[in-house]
Amino acid sequence: MTRPAPAPARPLRIAVLGLGTVGRSVVGALIDPAWQVGVRARGLVPPELVAVGVRDPERPRGIVLPERVRRSADLLEIVADPTIDAIVEVIGGTDDAGIVVRRAMASGKSVVTANKALLAERGPALEQAARDADVALRFEAAVAGGIPVLGPLVSDLAANRIDAVRGIVNGTTNHILSAMAQDGRDYADVLREAQERGYAEADPSGDVEGHDAANKLAVLVRLAFGAWPTVSRIRVTPPAVAGDGAPGITGVRTEDLAGAHALGMMIRLVARAEPGADGAVRAAVTPVAVRESSPLGATGGVTNLVEVVAEPVGRVSFRGPGAGGPATASAVLGDLLALGRGAGSTWGALPPAGWAGAVTDDLDGERSWLLVPPDPDPAAAALGPLLLARADGAVVTRPCGLADLRARCAGLPPDLALYPVIPEV
Ligand SMILES: NC(=O)c1ccc[n+]([C@@H]2O[C@H](COP(=O)([O-])OP(=O)(O)OC[C@H]3O[C@@H](n4cnc5c(N)ncnc54)[C@H](OP(=O)(O)O)[C@@H]3O)[C@@H](O)[C@H]2O)c1
Repeated sequence: MTRPAPAPARPLRIAVLGLGTVGRSVVGALIDPAWQVGVRARGLVPPELVAVGVRDPERPRGIVLPERVRRSADLLEIVADPTIDAIVEVIGGTDDAGIVVRRAMASGKSVVTANKALLAERGPALEQAARDADVALRFEAAVAGGIPVLGPLVSDLAANRIDAVRGIVNGTTNHILSAMAQDGRDYADVLREAQERGYAEADPSGDVEGHDAANKLAVLVRLAFGAWPTVSRIRVTPPAVAGDGAPGITGVRTEDLAGAHALGMMIRLVARAEPGADGAVRAAVTPVAVRESSPLGATGGVTNLVEVVAEPVGRVSFRGPGAGGPATASAVLGDLLALGRGAGSTWGALPPAGWAGAVTDDLDGERSWLLVPPDPDPAAAALGPLLLARADGAVVTRPCGLADLRARCAGLPPDLALYPVIPEV
C-alpha cells in the first residue's frame, strides 16, 4: 500500500520592504514562475509575496507586480499585519530600518535583512529582541553579498575552534585598488570613474573609509568569537610614521601600489579579526600588504574573499560576488527558504551574545611592514638591520614592533603610511 503524499507545507507569507537594487532582485525572483518551479524541484515551498513597502508606491520601478501584491508606503502597517509571517528588510540605513525590524519581531514575524549597518550598530539589542519574541533573524546577505559564509561559519564549521577571520569584504574599494595598481591611475581618477559606472555611490565615504567593511567584520566577529564588537572601535586607519594615516583606502597612493608591486606585493583593504585576551576582540580594517600570489592578493576587482582559519580544518576560503542585486538576492532568498524549512536565526545554536568587552587592533607585536618613502635611500639607511627588501622606492622590514619602526623612521614624512604585511598561513 502506498502512503498518501504529505500535504504540502503552507507557503511562508512575506513582505519585502525596499525596492532598490536588492529588493527589486528579490521580488523579481519571488514573482517569477520559473524560479518557483526550481524551488519546488528542490523539494521546497516558494514563499508567497503578499506586500511590498516603499516610500512612493506609485513610482515606476521597472517591475510589474501581480495585482494581489499590496503596495504601501506605510511600513508599520505592513509589519503589524497578522497575516504576514516574515519581513524582508532591504531599505538600508539604521533609523527607519531599526524601527520596522523591531516592530516586526515584536509582532511575531521573522526577519531577513541584508543590513550590516543596522546589525553592527544594534546587534545585541536586535538579537535579544529576536530571542525574546521567539522569532528568527537571518542576515546571510549582510556579509559578502551572495557568498554563503555566515551559515558555514556557524554550522558546517561548528566542530572547529575559529582562530581568525579575514577577508576582502568591500568590492568597491577592492575594485579601486585593483584599477589603480593595474593602470597606474590615481585614487581620485579611479573613484570618479567608479561612481560614473555605478560601482561606487555618490557619497562613497562608507565604502572608501572602511566603515562598510567594519560593519561586516562586526557581524563576522559576533558569529566567530561570540560577542558583538563596538564597531566604532574597529580601527579603519593605517598607522603612519606619526599618528594615523587617512581612513580606509583614501590615503593609498599610486606610488604605494607601484612600490608594493616591485616587491611582488599588493595593497588590499583587509578586514581581519582574532579572539583577544579576556573577552577582548582584535579587529581591524586597514590597507595591508599581501603577496600578489596569495589568495588575498589575487582577488581583484569587485570580487570578495573571506578566509576562516580554524582548528582542525585549517584555512577555508569563500570567494565570489560580494554585492549586486542578483547575488545579494541569492542570499536573501536562501534565508527565506531556510525560514520556510523552519530554520532559526543565523546564529543557530550559539549562546546569546552581548557587546564584546574590548576591541583592540592587531598592530601590536612584531610584524613586517611595507613603506614607500619619497626617497628610499635615507629610509633604508635609517632602517639598518631591520631592512629586509627594497625595490623601486618600496621598503619592507623584518618583523619589528610599530614603536621600533616609528623611532627609526623619525626623519620621514609624518603622514607616510606604514602598511602591515599580512603573511599567508
Ligand atoms: N546593493 C548591494 O549590492 C547590497 C549588497 C549587500 C547588502 N546590501 C544592503 O541591502 C540594503 C538595501 O540596499 P540597496 O542597495 O538595495 O539600497 P537602495 O538601492 O538604496 O534601495 C533602498 C530601497 O528602500 C526604500 N526605502 C529606503 N528608506 C525607506 C523608508 N524609510 N521607507 C520606505 N522605503 C524606504 C527606497 O525607496 P525609494 O525607492 O522610494 O527611495 C528603495 O526602494 C542595505 O542595507 C544594503 O547595505 C546591499
